[in-house]
Amino acid sequence: MKARPRPLIELTPIVVPSAADGPDGADFQVMVDLRNRINEVVRGEQAVAATAAQTLPAWQDQTDERIHGFLVHADGEPIGRALLYVPVQEDSKSADVRIEILPDWWGRGAGRHALEALTALARAHGRSVLHAWTDHLRLDGERIIARTGWGSVPDDHISRAMRGFGFTLEQVYRASALDLSQPLDRVAAVLAGARAAASDYRYVSWTLPTPVEHRAGYAWLKSRMSTDAPAGDMDFDEQLWDADRVARMDERLVAQGYTGVIGAAQHIVSGELAAYTELYLLGEDHSLPTSQNDTLVLKEHRGHRLGALVKCETLRIWREHMPESTRILTNNAEENRPMLSINEEMGFVPIAYAGMWQRTLEPATVSGP
Ligand SMILES: CC(C)(COP(=O)(O)OP(=O)(O)OC[C@H]1O[C@@H](n2cnc3c(N)ncnc32)[C@H](O)[C@@H]1OP(=O)(O)O)[C@@H](O)C(=O)NCCC(=O)NCCS
Repeated sequence: MKARPRPLIELTPIVVPSAADGPDGADFQVMVDLRNRINEVVRGEQAVAATAAQTLPAWQDQTDERIHGFLVHADGEPIGRALLYVPVQEDSKSADVRIEILPDWWGRGAGRHALEALTALARAHGRSVLHAWTDHLRLDGERIIARTGWGSVPDDHISRAMRGFGFTLEQVYRASALDLSQPLDRVAAVLAGARAAASDYRYVSWTLPTPVEHRAGYAWLKSRMSTDAPAGDMDFDEQLWDADRVARMDERLVAQGYTGVIGAAQHIVSGELAAYTELYLLGEDHSLPTSQNDTLVLKEHRGHRLGALVKCETLRIWREHMPESTRILTNNAEENRPMLSINEEMGFVPIAYAGMWQRTLEPATVSGP
C-alpha cells in the first residue's frame, strides 16, 4: 500500500469563551463537534453527544483541574483535539492525556505530534506520569492483555498507537449495560437480600446539588475512590476532596445540564457515610442512557452488601425521576470481582472493553557541550 504524504500538523490553543455561542466561541464549537464525531466512532452505542453549551462549564471552572486544550490541524484543516488535564493539588504527579483524531487521518503523524506537545507541557508542570483511557468496540480478533492479567482490548490501531507512544496497558475496564425496558425482577431480589444484610445502615439519597449536611461525608467518599478502588499498577494521585470541592463539582454539573441522583449508605451508630453510587443523565432528552459513575464501599464497611444496597435503591429512585431512560451504562475494572458480581446479579451484561494506560516520564535530557 502506498503511504499517503504526511500533512503539516499544527496545534492551536483552544480559547475558553465566555459563552458557547459568543463571538469568541468558534474554536470551542469546532472542538466539541470533533469530540462528538470521534466519540461516535470509538464508543458506538455508548456515545452520548454533548453541545458546546453543555461542555463549557467544565472548562470555565478550572479550580481543581487545569485543562490545556488544542485543536489539531492538518494542512490548515481541524482534524482533532488534544487535551491535557492537570490536577491542581500540590502533591499531584500525574496528568491525563486525551488525543482524538478523525479516523480518516489516523496513521499520518497527527497523534504523535499532539502527544509530543502534551508531554512537553506535562513535564513543564513537573509531572512524572501520564494516564490515558481508550475505548474499543471489537470483541473478537487479536487482543492484548492488561498487566493486571485481567481482561484484554483489541490489538487495533488505537492500541498500536498507544504502545508506539510509550504507554503500557495497565488495566482493562468492562463496559456493561442494564436494559431498563425490561421488568427489573433481578434487581428487586438483590435489593431484598441487601436490605436484610445491611441492617446497621440507613439508605440516604439526594438529587444534585448535594445538600450541605452531606457534602463533607460525600467528599470523604470521593477521596477514598482514588485510593480504595482496584488500580493495578496505575500510579494514581490520592485525590483531596472537601465540602467546597463537592459544591464546585455540583455547580458545574448542574450548569452543564446533568440530572444526578447520589445514593449513600449511612452507618446508623456513627452517622458516617460508608458507601455511595452516582447516576447521571445529560440534557433534556431523558430517553438517553444513564451513566453510573462512581460506586464505592469504604474498606472498613465492606461485607454488608452495601454496594448492592446503594446500587439497587438508587436505581429504584432513579426510575421515578427518569422513567424514560432506556439503559444504564457503567465501567468497572475487570479485576473488580465484587463489583462485577453485583452488576451481573442485577442483570448488567458486558458490551465492550476499555484500556487504562500509563506512561512514566523519564526526566528531560539536557543536551549541550
Ligand atoms: C490513538 C490516536 C490518537 C492515534 O493518532 P494517529 O494520528 O493515528 O497517530 P500517529 O499517526 O501519530 O501514529 C502513532 C503511532 O501509531 C503507530 N502506528 C501508526 N500507524 C500505524 C500502522 N499503520 N501500523 C502500525 N503502527 C502504526 C506508530 O507507532 C505511530 O508512531 P510513530 O510516530 O512512531 O510512527 C487516534 O487513533 C485516535 O484519535 N483514536 C481515538 C481516540 C483515542 O483512543 N485516543 C487515545 C487516548 S489518548
